[in-house]
Amino acid sequence: LAQDAEAGEDLFRRCASCHKIGEDAQNAVGPVLTGVIGRAAGSYEGYGYSRSMTAANEAGLVWSEETVFDYLENPTKYLRAVLDDPRARAKMSFKLRDEEDRRNVVAYLATFSTP
Ligand code: HEM
Repeated sequence: LAQDAEAGEDLFRRCASCHKIGEDAQNAVGPVLTGVIGRAAGSYEGYGYSRSMTAANEAGLVWSEETVFDYLENPTKYLRAVLDDPRARAKMSFKLRDEEDRRNVVAYLATFSTP
């Protein structure tokens, strides 16, 4: 599937109210996303994750282009499925429904990870 990291950079403005990315990024409302593709879920130093995200970390969830693509559609629904727990809840309420948008923003995130 075609991915457009430049279109993803524009889309990232919708994430940037909560997430910082790049070399000197700091945690904000959400965790730093520099290097998130390839990182264990719920593992960025110094960020206070939800219990559900911490449980996903303990269950071995790792962020890949595919898992972030799925997560972004509906974070709480995604964690409920991963944890098989109908009461799980992500601290991120933002949803990105459009598939093309999700592909593109994931491509942009991947430019901050070493493959
Ligand atoms: C967590 C991506 C928009 C708030 C995360 C994580 C990813 C992500 C990959 C997991 C990070 C980790 O495990 O270290 C994105 C992207 C967005 C976006 C790509 C835009 C398309 C937002 C917005 C907000 C937000 C707009 C705030 C209104 C959070 C919070 C968490 C989180 C609070 C922690 C979740 C938890 O602990 O359960 N985000 N996010 N995000 N995000 Fe976002």
